[in-house]
Amino acid sequence: MVSRVIPVDPFDLVIFGGTGDLARRKILPGLFRRFNSGQMPEEARIIGAARSDMGREAFQDMIRRAVEEFGGPHDPEALTEFVGRLDYVAVDAMGDGGWEDLKGKLRAGVVRAFYFSVGPSLFGALAERLRGFGLADDDSRVVVEKPFGHDLASARALNVTLREHFHEEQIYRIDHYLGKETVQNLMAVRFGNMLFEPLWNAQYVDHIQITVAETVDVGGRGGYYDKAGAMRDMVQNHLMQLLCLIAMEPPARFEPDSVRDEKLKVIRALDPVDYHQIVRGQYEADDSQPGYRAHVDNQRSTTESFVAMKLAISNWRWAGTPFYLRTGKKLRARASEIAVVFKDAPHSIFGPEAGTHRNVLTIRLQPNEGMTLGVTIKEPGPGGMRLIDVPLDMSFADALGPDAEDVPDAYERLIMDVIRGNQTLFMRGDEVEAAWAWTDPIIEGWTARGDVPKPYDAGSSGPEDALMLMHKDGRKWRDIRV
Ligand SMILES: NC(=O)c1ccc[n+]([C@@H]2O[C@H](COP(=O)([O-])OP(=O)(O)OC[C@H]3O[C@@H](n4cnc5c(N)ncnc54)[C@H](OP(=O)(O)O)[C@@H]3O)[C@@H](O)[C@H]2O)c1
Repeated sequence: MVSRVIPVDPFDLVIFGGTGDLARRKILPGLFRRFNSGQMPEEARIIGAARSDMGREAFQDMIRRAVEEFGGPHDPEALTEFVGRLDYVAVDAMGDGGWEDLKGKLRAGVVRAFYFSVGPSLFGALAERLRGFGLADDDSRVVVEKPFGHDLASARALNVTLREHFHEEQIYRIDHYLGKETVQNLMAVRFGNMLFEPLWNAQYVDHIQITVAETVDVGGRGGYYDKAGAMRDMVQNHLMQLLCLIAMEPPARFEPDSVRDEKLKVIRALDPVDYHQIVRGQYEADDSQPGYRAHVDNQRSTTESFVAMKLAISNWRWAGTPFYLRTGKKLRARASEIAVVFKDAPHSIFGPEAGTHRNVLTIRLQPNEGMTLGVTIKEPGPGGMRLIDVPLDMSFADALGPDAEDVPDAYERLIMDVIRGNQTLFMRGDEVEAAWAWTDPIIEGWTARGDVPKPYDAGSSGPEDALMLMHKDGRKWRDIRV
């Protein structure tokens, strides 16, 4: 029932920042799972690269511990075999030492990919040295992590720098939300069925809600986060990508540029957002835990840890259907979902006592990836025609049984796509720039007005004003719950 595992071509994957948090928590445990599934061919090689002066064995030990900690249940023998594929080179992105060493480890005739799992300030230096020392050619691929810029100007500058050394077709900008199974399923549901697409427009859809709620605080990323905030950290990239996939026109083919052209059109059709239609929030301290300002060590911070907004897409399909987006930290539950709320039936033959009922298609990204379609039926039993809403559920865990555990997580899938040379699930440079062009005026408006986020309780659904944002339209946010 579950995926056919098709081995990818042999590859050399160099992970700059191979000793860092992301590499240890996500990238290497993900690669181990692909190895375990048989997708990684015998000849695949992974080389960690960072400044720390350590040998191959020390790196292998580090990654063994990382996979044990973050990789879930595993077979120790398989892990030994996997770490045996790892190599390490000490190299400084800003210096000239180590590069010849690294070059010596790369093989001809295999796919060559370089993962920049380092801060964006190093992207330019890495790209330049990869070319300068002859490690990369026109077939090599580079993978770059978020954040891709801080605003339009910095994103443009990053694009210019990367394109000095690589073609757009070689640049893989990661947004791991696009690698999630349900996000791809969203496209399968929309464009693989006759059922939904005819209804997927302003005539039948009342509104769409996108929620990405986290229970965690800013953690150890306070310094970065306080300069970014929820708008830059989540909305400009993850929520924008979800919005694009839910709102875009059917691409002619499931091919990188067809899909990305359609996503770009959605961003370009977004209206500027009136500041009355946005609510920013900041979580407060409670009895047991410090608040946002203590977490970022800035008592005067006016950065938002929560944002909710109402958007309009000005095109034929969506004119008149609002999109409500919200995301935040320290909320009631960790839950990410998209809800397509259809309009009421035009006339109820069952009379006013049957109440109003709406179909809602919920696409759940986490936890429990899956989809639910709320349908109205007769309440069973005697007592007249009473209507109730029941869910038609499609959870991956139920549909796939034990095999559901083998569904690759986002990073695994995306890295394999890099090796396959498939850019469909990666952001193109113009998409990123368009998203910043839409985001920048909102943030500039806050700064110009001296906007201060509304406080909200940790463990709540965000500030009261966010609830009002929908109430004043006669609508209601869905509960944030697991
Ligand atoms: N962690 C996450 O969950 C996460 C999620 C999304 C995106 N990201 C992004 O991914 C990137 C990496 O994040 P991270 O959390 O892994 O950071 P991190 O834990 O600070 O790791 C940074 C890595 O870069 C290496 N490095 C630093 N300066 C270097 C230089 N001059 N030359 C070569 N290597 C250098 C470090 O090793 P040495 O000090 O030994 O050089 C380390 O391996 C960042 O852009 C971050 O925004 C991270």
